[in-house]
Amino acid sequence: MTEPVLDVHLTPEDAALALRAEALAGLTAPAKWVSPKWFYDAVGSDLFEDITRLPEYYPTRAEREILEARSTEIATVTGARALVELGSGSSEKTRLLLDALRAHGTLAEFVPLDVSSSALVDAARSILESYPGLRVHGVVGDFTEHLGLLPGASPRLVAFLGGTIGNLVPDERAKFLTSLRDVLAPGEWLLLGTDLVKDPDVLVRAYDDAQGVTAEFNRNVLHVINRELDADFDTSAFRHVALWNPDAEWIEMRLRAAHPTRAHVGALGIDVEFARDEDLRTEVSAKFRRDGVARELASAGFTLHSWWTDTQSRFALSLSQATP
Ligand code: AVJ
Repeated sequence: MTEPVLDVHLTPEDAALALRAEALAGLTAPAKWVSPKWFYDAVGSDLFEDITRLPEYYPTRAEREILEARSTEIATVTGARALVELGSGSSEKTRLLLDALRAHGTLAEFVPLDVSSSALVDAARSILESYPGLRVHGVVGDFTEHLGLLPGASPRLVAFLGGTIGNLVPDERAKFLTSLRDVLAPGEWLLLGTDLVKDPDVLVRAYDDAQGVTAEFNRNVLHVINRELDADFDTSAFRHVALWNPDAEWIEMRLRAAHPTRAHVGALGIDVEFARDEDLRTEVSAKFRRDGVARELASAGFTLHSWWTDTQSRFALSLSQATP
């Protein structure tokens, strides 16, 4: 079997440095935070896979429904020669796009980009096995930093699925979309998955499931910090909180100290103290409306071509094109 080609723009040492810098900023801020990108170690990635199968967590199923209905159309419209997938993870839904692009006859290359090289190699191998003859060119990188060097034959179709763009706040989204636009040639394509604003109860349940899988996923970030930064957070001192912020229109996940607690973070040489009921913000997951997505795309230099939702209008996929 052919081996996947791998470009490494982010080494484990780079990731360790980034985690230190971010943890220092977030844990010493007046309102404490950590970035959601640290959720996804091996345990966290497995927990996220479990989340996607929960009855309350609809985004994965809703997005798959749209891809099942629209992949052929996406292949015909784009005629893409390379499929680039940002934050590819397990690349499971990607197969629907790969199948359609292969059937259309244009696809030569698959370019998955992920921060986790182990997830990337596993996904790349399994894709190679299923699609003999396809070139697989993985990129280990952070999609907010390493877009400059995206390989792939033009026209490329860049897929950013799952609603992960919602982990970025508006400023970060603008920066991300603009830098993506800058690396694309006019006419190249972006397929973007966005979760939509809906009944807050439905949203909160999707992030606070009855089985407590999301709570475990949320607390796992403390295990990651304990291991990677030689810290001693008492994970049992924190409760999982998911709340809807109606002004920002995003879900926030937090870890709330049930009682006063303190952690020593060896790698940073600091002690972090939490008062009772003090929060550590671990994720924002923004929800979108069609007008807002169209506006953000347009100001970054994309022209909206199609907007599709699932039958229950819970989630949207937009296909847009780098404006000449
Ligand atoms: C993988 C970022 C799309 O925001 O819904 C799932 C992560 N967090 N449950 C999301 C997540 C809590 C997920 N994304």
